[in-house]
Amino acid sequence: MAIRKVGVVGCGLMGGGIAQTCAQAGYETVVREVNQQLLDKGLARIHDAWKMMVSKGKLTQGQADETLARLHGTLDIADFADCDLVIEAVIENMEEKLRLFPALDKTLKPGALILSNTSSLNITQMGAVTKRPDKVCGLHFFNPAPVMKLVEVVKTISTSEETVETVKQFAISLGKTPVLARDTAGFIVNFLLIPYLLAAIRMLENGMATRDDIDTAMKLGCGYPMGPFTLLDYVGLDTTLWAAEAIYDEYKDPLYAPPPLLRRMVLSGMYGKKSGKGFYDYQ
Ligand code: 3HC
Repeated sequence: MAIRKVGVVGCGLMGGGIAQTCAQAGYETVVREVNQQLLDKGLARIHDAWKMMVSKGKLTQGQADETLARLHGTLDIADFADCDLVIEAVIENMEEKLRLFPALDKTLKPGALILSNTSSLNITQMGAVTKRPDKVCGLHFFNPAPVMKLVEVVKTISTSEETVETVKQFAISLGKTPVLARDTAGFIVNFLLIPYLLAAIRMLENGMATRDDIDTAMKLGCGYPMGPFTLLDYVGLDTTLWAAEAIYDEYKDPLYAPPPLLRRMVLSGMYGKKSGKGFYDYQ
């Protein structure tokens, strides 16, 4: 099926980045938030990114204006009615998703696809609360979504081959490289990345090395763009905790058990860069 208009649910760090990516790729894009304050904040972040791209010569002012005109903010899910595809990027909470998916199912036209950007929650369960589970799959972006080249296309046991093919082609049209993963917690990237991040926190808890030395070691020793603590702050400690819990829940493998320090930092509101404090300070 032809994708012309895209909806994005949530204009936070990931939803905003996804909406930016879709509008930049030429799609009419509607992005929805739950209140005006969050919507304004999310749209302002996208506008700043376009200003930065113009100042770097990556977009002309004319292209930026056209892209801006393709992006529409809303508070009303009814504005997704004529979308061909909607990407959910709300908080990583299954109850939230299970409320949202039937509402999207009722609102969207019959052939429209519903995709989730979840990093580790069960997409089969989200599809099961709709009347179109064959048209539900995962499309997992990486932070920062406009920059990172990979997306994971996640096929549930109910997703049709046609949906997978449409979503792969859509990902390519966004300038991304899709990889296909089964709907198992963590998919490909987080199944490998989360134990690495958790191991770094355990090293710190056990006094094996300092935060700065662990970050420097992985940057210079392995050529990673960021050390694990910089990356944890960048991804969000809350997001990391939810992903670890979801994978631990599925496999009960101690590799994925959240370290006490991570849980306590999240309980204290230390979410990383977005809250101004994590393993580093950003104020
Ligand atoms: N829109 C458009 N372009 C953007 C942008 C945005 N929102 N944000 C950054 N950029 C561009 C910059 O303009 C810059 O372009 P240039 O090289 O042409 O000048 C380029 O991206 C790099 O940005 P910066 O110069 O600001 O910074 P760095 O060179 O340090 O790169 C980084 C930043 C791309 C974030 C790099 O440090 C990196 O790759 N880090 C690792 C990120 C990572 O691993 N992400 C995955 C996390 S896991 C995840 O998300 C899954 C989840 O489920 C947990």
